[in-house]
Amino acid sequence: MNVLKLNTLLLIINFTFLCVSCKSETNKNEAIKDSDFNKEWLFKKDSIVNAETINFDDSNWQQVNLPHDWSIEGPFDSKYNARTGGLPVHGIGWYRKHFTIEKELQGKQVAIEFDGAMSNAKVYLNGKYIGERPYGYIGFEFDLTKHINFGGNNVIAVRLAPEDLSMRWYAGAGIYRNVRLKINNAVHIPQWGTYITTPKVENGNAEVNIETTIKNSSNSTVNALLETVIKDENGTVVATKTSKTNVQANSESVVSTISQISNVTLWGINASYLYTAHSSIKIDNTIVDEYTTPFGVRTIEFNTKDGFLLNGKKVRFNGVCMHHDLGPLGAAVNYRATERQMQIMQSMGVNALRTSHNPPSPEMLQVCDKLGIVVIDEAFDEWKIGKVPNGYHKYFDEWHEKDLRDMIKRDRNHPSVIMWSIGNEILEQGKKDGWKLTKHLTDICHDQDNTRPTTIGFNYYPAPFVNKLANYVDIVGMNYWPTTYSKIIEENPEMIVYGSETSSQTSSRGIYHLPIEFKEKHETNHVSSYDVTVGPPWAYAPDIEFDAQTQSPNSLGEFVWTGFDYLGEPTPYGGRDNSTNGYWNDDWPSRSSYFAPVDLCGFPKDRYYLYQSQWTTKPMVHVLPHWNWEGEEGKLIPVYSYTNCDEVELFVNGKSYGKKVKGKDFTEIPSEYHHFEKGMYKTKYRLSWNVPYQPGSIKVVAYKNGKEAATKEIKTAGKPAKIKLEADRSIITANGEDLSFITITVLDENGNICPKANNLINFDIKGEGTLAAVGNGDQTSMASFRVPHRKAFSGKCLLVVKSTETAGTIHIKASSDNLESTSISIETK
Ligand code: GAL
Repeated sequence: MNVLKLNTLLLIINFTFLCVSCKSETNKNEAIKDSDFNKEWLFKKDSIVNAETINFDDSNWQQVNLPHDWSIEGPFDSKYNARTGGLPVHGIGWYRKHFTIEKELQGKQVAIEFDGAMSNAKVYLNGKYIGERPYGYIGFEFDLTKHINFGGNNVIAVRLAPEDLSMRWYAGAGIYRNVRLKINNAVHIPQWGTYITTPKVENGNAEVNIETTIKNSSNSTVNALLETVIKDENGTVVATKTSKTNVQANSESVVSTISQISNVTLWGINASYLYTAHSSIKIDNTIVDEYTTPFGVRTIEFNTKDGFLLNGKKVRFNGVCMHHDLGPLGAAVNYRATERQMQIMQSMGVNALRTSHNPPSPEMLQVCDKLGIVVIDEAFDEWKIGKVPNGYHKYFDEWHEKDLRDMIKRDRNHPSVIMWSIGNEILEQGKKDGWKLTKHLTDICHDQDNTRPTTIGFNYYPAPFVNKLANYVDIVGMNYWPTTYSKIIEENPEMIVYGSETSSQTSSRGIYHLPIEFKEKHETNHVSSYDVTVGPPWAYAPDIEFDAQTQSPNSLGEFVWTGFDYLGEPTPYGGRDNSTNGYWNDDWPSRSSYFAPVDLCGFPKDRYYLYQSQWTTKPMVHVLPHWNWEGEEGKLIPVYSYTNCDEVELFVNGKSYGKKVKGKDFTEIPSEYHHFEKGMYKTKYRLSWNVPYQPGSIKVVAYKNGKEAATKEIKTAGKPAKIKLEADRSIITANGEDLSFITITVLDENGNICPKANNLINFDIKGEGTLAAVGNGDQTSMASFRVPHRKAFSGKCLLVVKSTETAGTIHIKASSDNLESTSISIETK
């Protein structure tokens, strides 16, 4: 049971104003310190009658901490839809939490804030219905004050009812984002109560406009003093503003201030810099509320001549679309797992994210703010016309305006957010009067925030241009139509265009099928990593998009589908038609996507290096396939190399097979992009050789300006003999949330990676850590993510360990039959 003891903070002042907690709009640490309401919940997955009542017997319910995703625990089963991951994502689930609030807090405003609950949440306090929110991706807050039992026991109950056939991907299920209990004085800054813009940034100085909402829930008018102090990253005060205002009883008033920051440090790509606005409200010289808002100073501009300008400089999007799951960890939000995803993306050269197709977690935007990645914040995958029987269209009429406004209010202070996407492939784009809804949604965005443009990811051409729907968004995103960028601009010179979804190439890490073909399906349910077009009919090799972007210099860039493999939508296995309403289980056990250059565990596939060769400048070179072709001796094996240098030389067992020059030597790859002729595509982004297989090694040497700049070598491995453990971080925070990601690689006795190893690795975890998840990136594995063992897939698997709240050491031992065991320790501080 949680007891909210605020004795130390109780300052009884003649009126009932107390400073009970500092709230923070987006600063994770403060929010958790002051109002974390995630611990000690009880959970039961069942449709239970009267589970909201105070005296309901929940003694046999499961104890859980939030964020919690009930469906990731599995089991995978073909009775669930493979399209949503083959996991139990639907059904009724109840959460209850008992807590007390001290009597002295009588008179306070008590609210509960959910960053998101999946889905169809209904919230009850002490048996009383408080409110509901159908959309699982939206943050919401309910006022509990009226029904709180001050000085006694309280029970909050949340009923969730995610429906089958309500999503086109794995959404998770449960209270999967953070929850806070907020205790405020009658006068306070409410949820999302600040709006910060920086309209003028000139000569090293920035004008900072802050609109602060002050809410007065008391029955008398108050005279409030708002003080806003802006601090830089070192905590140095760079600006201070005070203003007085009268706030009428039971109403809100908005105070606008303008501050100046001189010698301003700008926020940029890979160059984050965040200021913090500390707002406090004083009444009669006593602080009654404090609120902090991190923000960045940057300018954004979109125009037909230069495209997208960040701080006055042209930036092209090397972007990815991402769904919100964290692979083997499921949908339950975790800051470190989110940060790791985006760090891996950044190492591939990514500078932009599209949060397909829903509002992201607050943590994702914090991460993008921190890493310097720009974001298209997307609201909806469906409007009024559904794509799946129980999709958002059922709720659109009643909820779209509130959901859209709330997304913008929550996210508008993030410097990373540069556009509001009002929809993905919405089916209204083909309708004659679809423009009306488009205009309506764009108007809502402009009304809520006039500093960012709106966009849509269109997948029809030319329909939305003929019916003029595309004229009602500010920026036109095209999904899988690289052939149209220039055409659209030519025909509509006022339009600004980019590739909102590109490629949809599929592959399985470390799997190569020879000869190279685009045969769609294999018995193993894997897809070859030679990365020639395999996917849905609209898919095409990344190379085609690279060419399209080069040929359309006015396009703002691209967003690859997707950055990470995600749970669900296992195209090309099991289903490929987005209009299919049924189950995608024809090719069971395929249960997760094949689309990304990085697998579900975050391990790069070969395609990761293809993007790196286009999107990064630090010299790199990559070579594929592996070099273990036992029984194929003497046969010709196609060898591909990806580089950002000028030329590459291939050596097999020390013998040169010659240099290939990037831009001069082409590779022909089979392509079946449906908007082109089916046939061979000549790509300049891959250098290739056909060499007779002989065991030993293949080595590529990349040259820049005639000098050796990067090399990579792959050796033929012998039998699996050892296990290698590598932790991404060997010191983590002892807060019960932080994670260390440990990569397990199977090696032969000489330390070479065994590219086909599938040994079962057992983990023994002791000390101040627990198992968070295991995985191996195999899209067909039915093994649980929550057990202390995992088979390697193409030589690798992943173990994720979580700290406890006690500082110490996590000892991890990995063992396997016939392999030498290995240990590793992680410190928690
Ligand atoms: C797009 C859709 C995405 C995903 C992708 C797979 O049409 O917007 O959500 O389904 O296809 O290729």
